[in-house]
Amino acid sequence: MTRYAMITGASRGLGLALAEALARRGRNLILVARQRDALEAVASELTQRFGVEVLFRACDLSEPLRISGFLLELEESDRHIDLLINCAGLRSYGHFLAQDWMQEQDLIEVNILALARLCHVIGNAMAVHGGGQILNVASLAAFQPGPWMSNYAASKAYVLSFSEGLREELRQSGVKVSVLCPGPVRSAQRLIERLASSQRVLSPEEVALYTVRALARNRAVIVPGRRNRLLTYGARLGSRWLVRKVAGAINLAYRPR
Ligand SMILES: NC(=O)c1ccc[n+]([C@@H]2O[C@H](COP(=O)([O-])OP(=O)(O)OC[C@H]3O[C@@H](n4cnc5c(N)ncnc54)[C@H](OP(=O)(O)O)[C@@H]3O)[C@@H](O)[C@H]2O)c1
Repeated sequence: MTRYAMITGASRGLGLALAEALARRGRNLILVARQRDALEAVASELTQRFGVEVLFRACDLSEPLRISGFLLELEESDRHIDLLINCAGLRSYGHFLAQDWMQEQDLIEVNILALARLCHVIGNAMAVHGGGQILNVASLAAFQPGPWMSNYAASKAYVLSFSEGLREELRQSGVKVSVLCPGPVRSAQRLIERLASSQRVLSPEEVALYTVRALARNRAVIVPGRRNRLLTYGARLGSRWLVRKVAGAINLAYRPR
């Protein structure tokens, strides 16, 4: 049975950098995102450069029925996923009441529901096969409430808490669970572009390299960047009143224009 690492949100940004870092280490991959053309281009490039098998599946993770179809396909194939990386994620920014509800719902579907469902189905398959590894991508935003991006920060707090809990639950099953909490990463997102111009921001490749090494050491909570690690301590030690005021002020200062 051929083994694969499956990565959601692998067509660009951090997911793509993680796919490349794993292909470089000889891992066969299954890539998931919505846009088929982008996935096809990534798959063909990684196969050419690293000689690994790269399969891809266009699937909108905000649509539960499409996820069901995809999971059924996986179950019927003889492909074994021994590393699952839930990287696909949506972000929203602004006054919650002014946001389009369908976008907020999609965020919850992708960031929370799809992630939990993939952990459930693929985690079960891993346990049956004697083990595997799951990496869920949260954010530095998971450590405190995030005024002006409250739904996003809350979704990432779910990912952090869920992953840490699951890690303990699955310890006996041989399934290892880690959670990645990156700070701002240089990417196509406008918010991050503004941040990148004002301070040192890690590239997706730097975050991916740090993450792959931390995964090999089975680290529970992975926070790339020394300054980011310091920020997580600040969020845990400060009073909740102060932490949410500071988080709100930072989010407002770096709002997308
Ligand atoms: N960038 C940052 O600064 C930063 C910081 C902290 C945490 N994070 C987290 O890291 C992860 C990756 O962030 P990123 O900035 O690299 O993201 P990105 O560049 O916006 O890429 C998002 C990826 O997810 C896929 N995707 C989006 N909606 C999807 C859906 N409904 N179904 C399936 N795939 C979908 C996208 O492909 P399609 O459009 O083709 O679907 C793309 O491959 C996210 O979970 C994000 O919250 C990012």
